[in-house]
Amino acid sequence: MKIDREKVRKVFAEYVRHYDAEDPKIRLKILHTYKVSELCEEIARDLFGTTEMTEVSAQENIDLAWLIGMLHDIGRFEQVKRYHTLLDAESVSHAALGTEILFEEGMLTNFITVEPEDPDVEVLRAAIAYHSDYRIPGDLDERTRMFSQILRDADKIDIFRVNCETPLEDIYHITREELMHAEVSEDVMDNFMQRQATPREIRKTPVDYVVGMISMAFELVYPISRKIAARQGYLEHLLDFPSENEKTRQQFAMMKRQLAL
Ligand SMILES: [Fe+2]
Repeated sequence: MKIDREKVRKVFAEYVRHYDAEDPKIRLKILHTYKVSELCEEIARDLFGTTEMTEVSAQENIDLAWLIGMLHDIGRFEQVKRYHTLLDAESVSHAALGTEILFEEGMLTNFITVEPEDPDVEVLRAAIAYHSDYRIPGDLDERTRMFSQILRDADKIDIFRVNCETPLEDIYHITREELMHAEVSEDVMDNFMQRQATPREIRKTPVDYVVGMISMAFELVYPISRKIAARQGYLEHLLDFPSENEKTRQQFAMMKRQLAL
């Protein structure tokens, strides 16, 4: 797959120009896209940079990972435009919307020249389609699994940043008051102590969303991803959650001990 980064950047910038840049949700997703593509590149460089792949060069794999990052949230812009929310549960699966736009409506060909029967087109499609699922399907081939995992790791790492830099009440549609007084639900807490990501359906209180996000760190697949997350320091910051509820502060202290990256 031939990837012309300059062209991809240009087409992306042109595409998002049609959306309201005054809307913080749009701005957030533009920046997130650039950050995730950089992170995909960094992870891929670590994974492929040292191994000699027989058929595909390391640089081609790194470029593909970068491209997947650039395109992974393309469905977000239509989601915000049509439903004014980033919450899939209240609108539509943004991953499915993205694959529809790119692959069914054919926007992918604006970004890259697609050779017929290039197997990496399916790798790209699958990585985007599954990127926000709780877990990826167990039967993916090795290459598809790897690029899916690279994207999911990169996405999680940048979500830690987003949640530090964006007021949480803007993302989750709750008031500051509710957020600062809420406790972590028992199920969410138990799940965290078992060191796994929080299933969406067990989240009940406003602060469960914060825990849910921090718990994504348990699912980071590659050592380099954990290294980057630790280096960035956003998780630590999120774990110092300044709750006004004493019980919640104790819960966060327990989680901080549990999550040693
Ligand atoms: Fe996404």
